[in-house]
Amino acid sequence: MRLILEGKINKTYVQSLCMMFFHGEKFPEIEKNPRGAVFVRATEQNGGILAECEFTYLDKTAKTSAFCVGEDGDSYERTSKCAVGKAVYQAGRELTGKEIPWGILTGIRPSKVGAQLLSSFSYEKARDILINKYLLSEKKAELVLSVAKNETKILSSYGDDTCSLYVSIPFCPTRCEYCSFISYATPKLFQLIPSYLEKLCSELKEKAEIIKKTGKKLVTIYIGGGTPTTLDVEQLKILLEAIVGSFDLTHLEEFTVEAGRPDTITKEKLDVLKEYGVRRVSVNPQALNDEVLLAIGRHHTVADFYNAYEIVSAEQFDSVNTDLIVGLSRDTYESFKSTIDKICALDPQNVTVHAFSVKKSARILENDSQIYEKQDTSAVLSMEYAYERLISSGYEPYYMYRQKNTVCDLENVGYTKIGKECRYNVLMMSDSHTVFSCGAGATTKLVKKIDGKEAISRIFSPKYPYEYLQDNQSKEKEILAFFEK
Ligand SMILES: C[S@@+](CC[C@H](N)C(=O)[O-])C[C@H]1O[C@@H](n2cnc3c(N)ncnc32)[C@H](O)[C@@H]1O
Ligand code: SF4
Repeated sequence: MRLILEGKINKTYVQSLCMMFFHGEKFPEIEKNPRGAVFVRATEQNGGILAECEFTYLDKTAKTSAFCVGEDGDSYERTSKCAVGKAVYQAGRELTGKEIPWGILTGIRPSKVGAQLLSSFSYEKARDILINKYLLSEKKAELVLSVAKNETKILSSYGDDTCSLYVSIPFCPTRCEYCSFISYATPKLFQLIPSYLEKLCSELKEKAEIIKKTGKKLVTIYIGGGTPTTLDVEQLKILLEAIVGSFDLTHLEEFTVEAGRPDTITKEKLDVLKEYGVRRVSVNPQALNDEVLLAIGRHHTVADFYNAYEIVSAEQFDSVNTDLIVGLSRDTYESFKSTIDKICALDPQNVTVHAFSVKKSARILENDSQIYEKQDTSAVLSMEYAYERLISSGYEPYYMYRQKNTVCDLENVGYTKIGKECRYNVLMMSDSHTVFSCGAGATTKLVKKIDGKEAISRIFSPKYPYEYLQDNQSKEKEILAFFEK
């Protein structure tokens, strides 16, 4: 798609607006015969910004304009985004007939906007701004404000002197068709696990020393993947021993292991997790329908999930999470409804509902290259049902994020029983909390306040386990320098 912008316009923002209407579109510098072209001009006029848009796709053209004045404490940039967003949104809607429930809110976490609005305005005014200025549907506006309220409550209880730890185990028993995470899943690559663990344990020791030097209190730990319970009992012991033996856990409030795949969960492994202080685990069905599980290459059945859930329940962890995905191949509204109903009957403390997202690395793309075009309204209904049913079963939405290329542009939402939220999930997504990470593909996020504003620095570990094994660069100096400056 060709993009021609005149005036002070954020290019990435316009690209993501266009992609909401035309999934999978790309914006190369040179394109011989583009399917679409977007011209946008922004000019300052009468104390506001006028945006004019001409959007052509195949043989159709839409011409629109929008005028916005800075209000509600908006910066110039935000006013410009608002005018440009409205003009492009109207044109996209005219060309496709699509109503996007998230309106022009893209490229920013919706709950961050919600929290900013709630800090200055009443609930009603904030809701009004989300619906009329950002064009959110009423339901999404309510979701955003509920999440914002819960997130703000959690974030306000952690100061600059706290931090979290993420540990990456990028191995899985087999690779699911839809998965976009980097994870090793063949017997040959499993041979790397012992040396991976050895390296990880020494990184954990180093990070523990660094945390000590920064004087921060470690409040949450999250071991994720991949599937950490791909490790056998002895390997889990080695990992947990390194954590418990290296870090000061005096202030630790939460310790999660994303077990995830039911076919990796055994009583022996859970006993080890409990023994080392793990208090929250995930056991993920994704969908409670064997036909869907087969179609997505999940390599376990619904019965396997129930079996794993029973073993997990018997261990009495503080909190159990179940991950679900809306919009999977072969899933229908009726079938997803039944999944949610069955999950509610189990009554886990947390339920996370993801919108199916197709990323370039997912194997499913090889078999179905048209998947971006699928606009299945049953996914929208399924997401709405999840919201209604979980709320009426005593859950609250407490964190959320949006990804690119999700079915019907839907979001990912974490629901919790009151007081049982996973604090790590909220802290790691905020711009106000330091997260130290260990292992391949992990990102350390350093945060400090300068003149009341957050400064953020990210340090990326090598993506793949074999690269990680070859990396010998210590990040200690860089991390300590960030906090000293
Ligand atoms: C990092 S994965 C690991 C969880 C664990 N390995 C498992 O599969 O149960 C975390 C969650 O992301 C979600 N997920 C993975 N790929 C996805 C995709 N393409 N679209 C939407 N959600 C996805 C799944 O719900 C999954 O449980
Ligand atoms: S969905 Fe989970 S189990 Fe499946 S490949 Fe991805 S990380 Fe591994």
